Amino acid sequence: MSFCGNHLLSVDDLTKEDLLYLFDIAELMRPYANREKQTKVLDGAILGNMFFEASTRTRVSFGCAFNLLGGFVRETVGIHTSSLAKGESLYDTAKVMSGYSDIIVMRHPEAGSVAEFAGASRVPVINGGDGANEHPSQALLDLFTIRKELQIQGSRLDHLSIAMIGDLKHGRTVHSLSRLLTLFDGIRFRFIAPSDLQLPEDTIQEIKARGHEVKLSENLEEGLADADIIYQTRIQEERFSSQAEADRYRGKFRINQHTYSQFCQQTTVIMHPLPRDSRADANELDSDLNENPRLAIFRQSDNGVLVRMALFATILGVEKEVQQYECPIRWQSSKQF
Ligand code: NCD
Repeated sequence: MSFCGNHLLSVDDLTKEDLLYLFDIAELMRPYANREKQTKVLDGAILGNMFFEASTRTRVSFGCAFNLLGGFVRETVGIHTSSLAKGESLYDTAKVMSGYSDIIVMRHPEAGSVAEFAGASRVPVINGGDGANEHPSQALLDLFTIRKELQIQGSRLDHLSIAMIGDLKHGRTVHSLSRLLTLFDGIRFRFIAPSDLQLPEDTIQEIKARGHEVKLSENLEEGLADADIIYQTRIQEERFSSQAEADRYRGKFRINQHTYSQFCQQTTVIMHPLPRDSRADANELDSDLNENPRLAIFRQSDNGVLVRMALFATILGVEKEVQQYECPIRWQSSKQF
């Protein structure tokens, strides 16, 4: 796809060339994200940042990314404080909000809702997560991070082994990332989940049909054994019919430093889309891993800003002019990257 002027609704719209192009642009964004200099390339542009479901890092990093390019952000947060609570259709909301914005990011609890909204929008829409379906920008930042972590180790995306763990049925980040990885060669997928929470069958079949190796398991140790990347996830309790139902699965697959030392290679990279559920009865990624140099979770969240800046710049067609509108930073920034 060409990014310019288009929606980003599903990773299925992307080619390998798109990814590599976007990742090159994301790298160019680093000095701005690191506060070494600033750019005003989107001065005057308005982002409609519409989040109808809980979010911290996706909402804020999209907002920061737009601000870092010099644009303004208007936020709508929560269904109950928006006109959707008064019975307004997604069609009407899209017509109205796209009249106020140059680009929209939208998160919504129902699968397919962002595509429906985009169908009526007069400006490009980025899917910030639609129910249990997809989360394309998270998959892009995850893939960007995997590529970077592997590059540091002198290896490549092709033929990597990735263990995806947890609630693979409802985890939209897993759905998008696993599909995106199929664009590379010979990926070895290990999907570790209770059988009721396994990856949807159609996604498994699609991955296999594209020639990749798929192993399903309910056993954590078995799945970790040859993994280059661990992608741990949270039980998506908001997608279950009751809390009690979700609680049946919480805490089933925990990874801590002991598990890591026992079952992983020394180079295995540990990832999680975040938030990790740190409550005692869940604790899928223990805080005793915080000093483990292979824990990439905060590099993921930092990379989210770069990738989202690249998305805005390419969709709004200014990626070649970012440097032209740059200016110095006036304040003292002691932030460490
Ligand atoms: C994820 C999401 O919302 O799907 N979070 C995120 O956007 N980084 C994962 C999750 O909530 O578990």
